[in-house]
Amino acid sequence: MRVLVIGSGGREHALLIGLAKDPSVTELHVAPGNAGTSALATNHDVDVASADAVLALARHVDADLVVIGPEVPLVLGVADALRAAGIATFGPGAQAAQIEGSKAFAKDVMAAAGVATAHSEVVDNPAHLDAALDRFGPRWVVKDDGLAAGKGVVVTADRAAARDHAAECLESGHPVLLESFLDGPEVSLFSFVDGETVVPLIPAQDHKRVGDDDAGPNTGGMGAYTPLPWLPDEVTRQIVDDVVKPVAAELVRRGTPFSGLLYAGLAIGKNGPSVVEFNCRFGDPETQAVLALLKSPLGQALHATATGTLADLLPLEWIDGAAVTVVLAAENYPGKPRTGDVITGADGDGVLHAGTARNADGAVVSSGGRVLAVVGTGADLAEARAQAYERLATVKLPGSHYRTDIGRNALEGRISI
Ligand code: GLY
Repeated sequence: MRVLVIGSGGREHALLIGLAKDPSVTELHVAPGNAGTSALATNHDVDVASADAVLALARHVDADLVVIGPEVPLVLGVADALRAAGIATFGPGAQAAQIEGSKAFAKDVMAAAGVATAHSEVVDNPAHLDAALDRFGPRWVVKDDGLAAGKGVVVTADRAAARDHAAECLESGHPVLLESFLDGPEVSLFSFVDGETVVPLIPAQDHKRVGDDDAGPNTGGMGAYTPLPWLPDEVTRQIVDDVVKPVAAELVRRGTPFSGLLYAGLAIGKNGPSVVEFNCRFGDPETQAVLALLKSPLGQALHATATGTLADLLPLEWIDGAAVTVVLAAENYPGKPRTGDVITGADGDGVLHAGTARNADGAVVSSGGRVLAVVGTGADLAEARAQAYERLATVKLPGSHYRTDIGRNALEGRISI
């Protein structure tokens, strides 16, 4: 099977590593990829937001399967164009991708499906903003209604900061969603979804804030670990039965079935799991940890999802143990990152590339905010964490930063539900 992966992040590098291990995968291509992916796949410099360009590439490489990593091409309908041309594609069409593309759409689907989520209000008129803010608090959750690469969410006890973020979104023409704050530890649960068939992966936890102990602004994700020692299997089953399956069924009922990876982000509060967000694709950096423990052939699972035969897939098998991924970010991320710095030690085991490129001399340089995701595995969380940080210590990037506490609260038994 010839597979074309769309995207350029650590998630796509992880997908390629998983695909390369599947004996049914004979050839790998990626667009645009990064400096690390070229060791496993042929990189193609193509505009992945252009359905015509992706379709032309898929035909050129004679892809048997296209796997779309990021949300932007999905929301823009690239999967629809590929499927219309008869190419097996992993990733939802534009309408189902609205589950991530529009927070208001996701809320509507959840209401119809009877899924627990935060109380919310959409504000699209600046004149209504102050009154709406008064109906929330003492902690405000303000979300840009459109795509914002994980950085469109502000959670704060400072009303003025909440107001500033909301006003900024409204000024740029996007409605904002105000939400009540959901208390409780967060879980990212990924599921392969093909219509009403749902196959969950193992749950993970992201670390969204930039600094240790959840200090500083939100990012796309600074690290993750899996599985979650504090989450009983019964709660994972509850998430599948009460959240993922009803949402998948509701999308089928609306005539826009979901095909691909449905990411449920939840807070586990005292009344059980409640949805924080849905994404229409694999999460980054959780994927780097989750796929490190997948024993089953990844290509076959993605192909089954893409071709509507997920119900026939053998149950997924997992390596016993734990995985931790730690993101190395460029100076100033999540603000405008410094780029173009030479990175050394980025070719070791478990070092997955994200914002990397090669300069004119062929050296690996930083080209984005989240530069690398370093993965460690082990018999338990302590071993996985130790390996991830040992591997990270061998990488050098001037001005870079990372969190030192990925998985630490779970390891020290400080998370409970
Ligand atoms: N890790 C958060 C996300 O992928 O959206």
